[in-house]
Amino acid sequence: MKKPKIVAIVGSLRKDSFNRQLALLAREAVGNRADFELLEYADVPMMNEDMEFPPPEPVRRVRQVVASADGIWFFTPEYNHFFPGVLKNLIDWLSRPAEPGGGQVLDGKPAAISGASLGMSGTGLAQDHLVTLISFLNMKVMNFPRLTIPDVWKQLDDRKKLKLSDSATFLQKQVDAFLAFLQNNQ
Ligand code: FNR
Repeated sequence: MKKPKIVAIVGSLRKDSFNRQLALLAREAVGNRADFELLEYADVPMMNEDMEFPPPEPVRRVRQVVASADGIWFFTPEYNHFFPGVLKNLIDWLSRPAEPGGGQVLDGKPAAISGASLGMSGTGLAQDHLVTLISFLNMKVMNFPRLTIPDVWKQLDDRKKLKLSDSATFLQKQVDAFLAFLQNNQ
């Protein structure tokens, strides 16, 4: 298999997001075994069917990046036991065709899910909701292993940056599993 391309989608727009930092640590753990791109989507507007066709430029761009991926890796925070609205908005755009009657870019894509939260759930509840949504969109979800990081404040360095301790081996296991999953779902 050629080197796979993973596109990471972080469900937080926060500059110092722990989930964004987790995605960067995952990129490090993947190393040169795959290309790994973080999707930037802060400029995607709120879904409004009045502006669907032709799609706004940021929507066209994110669809193109997602279409080029062999797999999508979601890194989601948990907001009120759900995944954040910005992520739902992005996925709603991605779920729609570029022109009426066309296909959508998430169809059949392998997906991994990870998340870090300040609370005890470690984003497990948000992840379950995300699985419901992306399964409906016919993504191939790697349900095991998923990575949930509760009490993320316990795994920071003295500059308050994410420095995985307890979760480091689980991240490594998820990386290995997702690379194998991509190979088996070409
Ligand atoms: C939160 N947070 C949170 N944490 C949690 O463990 N369970 C939850 O249900 C919620 N709910 C919630 C709602 C809203 C609106 C906000 C803003 C925050 C806290 C959350 O875990 C924390 O802010 C994380 O740092 C968010 O992830 P990023 O932005 O650091 O990636």
